[in-house]
Amino acid sequence: MSDTVESAVIVAIDGPAGTGKSSTSKAVAAALGLRYLDTGAQYRAITWWMITNGVDTADPAAIATASDKPAIVSGTDPAGPTITVDGEDVSAPIRTSEVSAQVSAVSAVPDVRTRITGLQRAIAAAAEGGIVVEGRDIGTTVLPDAHLKIFLTASPEARAARRAGELAGADVEATRQALVKRDAADSGRATSPLAMAADAVEVDTTELTLQQVVERVVALVEERRAAAR
Ligand code: DC
Repeated sequence: MSDTVESAVIVAIDGPAGTGKSSTSKAVAAALGLRYLDTGAQYRAITWWMITNGVDTADPAAIATASDKPAIVSGTDPAGPTITVDGEDVSAPIRTSEVSAQVSAVSAVPDVRTRITGLQRAIAAAAEGGIVVEGRDIGTTVLPDAHLKIFLTASPEARAARRAGELAGADVEATRQALVKRDAADSGRATSPLAMAADAVEVDTTELTLQQVVERVVALVEERRAAAR
């Protein structure tokens, strides 16, 4: 392990929706004084822009042509992450079910992935002190040299219950079906699918509290740091 693990630790946290990636990643970053990047928010932001600008999200060629148009900027403070598109705060509109239903199709387009992956690598390289980056392909494709790779899992039932709890009035069974459909699309796409890196540590969160997951990940970062000394 290089000595940079002490000065700029890079932690990749991947896994399907509803496994607690965002809550875990933000809490780990805050506990260790690191920056935080939600890469799903970037894919949601570009999807929101396509919908808002009348680009047909079922047309990969149209998406590819438009993929470099929106300016997407992520704020990486774990206490208050932000995301803007062409200067507009889109943190609320990117969470609608309309965007959730179309984000897998948009994020499967190779030009979109090239564009967003470039943004992610630039943010990670500029993050003084290090960063926690959460997503689907961070450990496999975006940051394959991350010091620590975590792959979070949980049963579909636990994931649906957590997601439905986050969305006021959501139906757990409908949420479960939407999650399973999105996972299948995200895992089955040709370009950098949702996958666990060979050197990732898998953490099944089904029976764990958020605090237990955070403690485990923080302990793993500390272990890597100690090993690098
Ligand atoms: O984490 P999330 O549910 O907000 O992510 C939304 C979608 O973005 C997800 O269904 C697939 C896509 N995504 C991706 O393809 N690669 C990433 N690194 C992160 C998210």
